[in-house]
Order: sequence, then C-alpha cells, then structure tokens
Amino acid sequence: MPYIRESIITTVNKAGGVHIAPIGIIAEKDGWVIAPFRPSVTLDNLAEVPFAIANYTDDVRIFAGCLTGRKHWPTVAVDGFPVPRLKAALAHSVLEVESVDDDGMRPRHFCRVVQEETHAPFTGLNRAKAAVLELAILVSRLGMLPRDKIEAEIAYLSIAIEKTAGEGEKEAWDWLMQRVGDHLSGEDASGEDARG
Ligand SMILES: Cc1cc2nc3c(=O)[nH]c(=O)nc-3n(C[C@H](O)[C@H](O)[C@H](O)COP(=O)(O)O)c2cc1C
Repeated sequence: MPYIRESIITTVNKAGGVHIAPIGIIAEKDGWVIAPFRPSVTLDNLAEVPFAIANYTDDVRIFAGCLTGRKHWPTVAVDGFPVPRLKAALAHSVLEVESVDDDGMRPRHFCRVVQEETHAPFTGLNRAKAAVLELAILVSRLGMLPRDKIEAEIAYLSIAIEKTAGEGEKEAWDWLMQRVGDHLSGEDASGEDARG
C-alpha cells in the first residue's frame, strides 16, 4: 500500500473561487497523486487551474468542519501561485498537475512539488486528533457501513477523546457525532457518499 498524507487541499476555479476539501495525497515517485472521486469540486477546479496546495494542519476542526458543512476557513495568498493556502497550515506544498490518469471514477492527478514552506512548529502527536481524523473518514463513508461497525469504531475512538482531547478536538468530535447521530436516526440529508 502507498504512503498517504491526510491533508486539506485548496484549489481555485477560473474565476478565483477557493475550494477546500480534506484529501489524502498519495506518495508516488518524487511527487504526490491527488485522486478526487467524480463528481467533485476539487476535480473540476484542477481541470480549470492545474495547481493545488496541500495544507498540513493539526487543527482537526478543519477536517471535521469540511465534512459537516463548515467550509469557510481563512486562507492567505501564496506569492507567485494562483491558489491560496490555509491560514492554519503548519506547512504547505504547492502541487502542479503534471499528468492525469482518468479511470472514469477517480482520476489520478500526478503532481510535482513546485514550492514548500513551513509556517509554524509541529507540536507533537495527540491521540484525540488521530481519533477525530478516523471519525471524519468514517463519516465520509457512513452510507457504506453497517450500524454495528459504526458503533464499535466510535466506542473505541471515544476512549482517546475522553483521555486526551483539548477544546478543539472536542468541538470537532461533536460536529461529526451530530452527523453520525442524524445518520443512525435516519435524518441525514447531507447526501454524503462514500469517499476517502
Ligand atoms: C481524511 C480524509 C481523506 C479524504 N480523501 C479523499 C480522497 O482522496 N478523494 C476524495 O475524493 N475524497 C476524499 N475525502 C472526502 C472528501 O473530503 C469529500 O468527499 C469532499 O467533499 C470532496 O469533494 P469536493 O471536492 O466536491 O468538496 C477524504 C475525506 C477525509 C476526511
């Protein structure tokens, strides 16, 4: 299996409208593959403007927020490139699309890194952040999973939340759990499908 870096991808359309989405970028040779499922705004934007920024952030509210309708996170311009980065990025890579391998369902955009920058220190691993990331992935796949699997995963992940979460992790967890609750009670109108 390839190495995957969970990042927040920023892209723009031709009009300069910014879109942000959690995407796992896949290590390949000396670059990274962005593989958005069809249809998606990220996919459309890459066709219009073949640059993306992989934002590396430890603010898990951004992962949880994007999956629960909270998509407006501050961005700042990056000199010399059309796509802005997340203000909350500890570091970023500017990726330029070099080639596209389109299988019809999940086109693989091979990108090379054209610029990288660090903005703030990485302050260490945290189990609650990892648990929120796992719950975000689970939420992006709710429609595919049986109830007992969802409940078993949440029971395990919630141990790390109870033991190690700060305010940001609790907030992100609650946003995602609201979505899980809606799904299990049959009220999930998000239309979220299987991604990740
Ligand atoms: C950690 C994580 C990784 C993800 N990786 C991918 C991915 O590689 N490809 C994809 O299409 N969606 C991925 N998703 C789901 C997308 O973030 C989500 O479906 C998003 O809405 C993409 O569509 P958009 O570009 O229209 O916003 C991931 C979600 C999470 C939480």
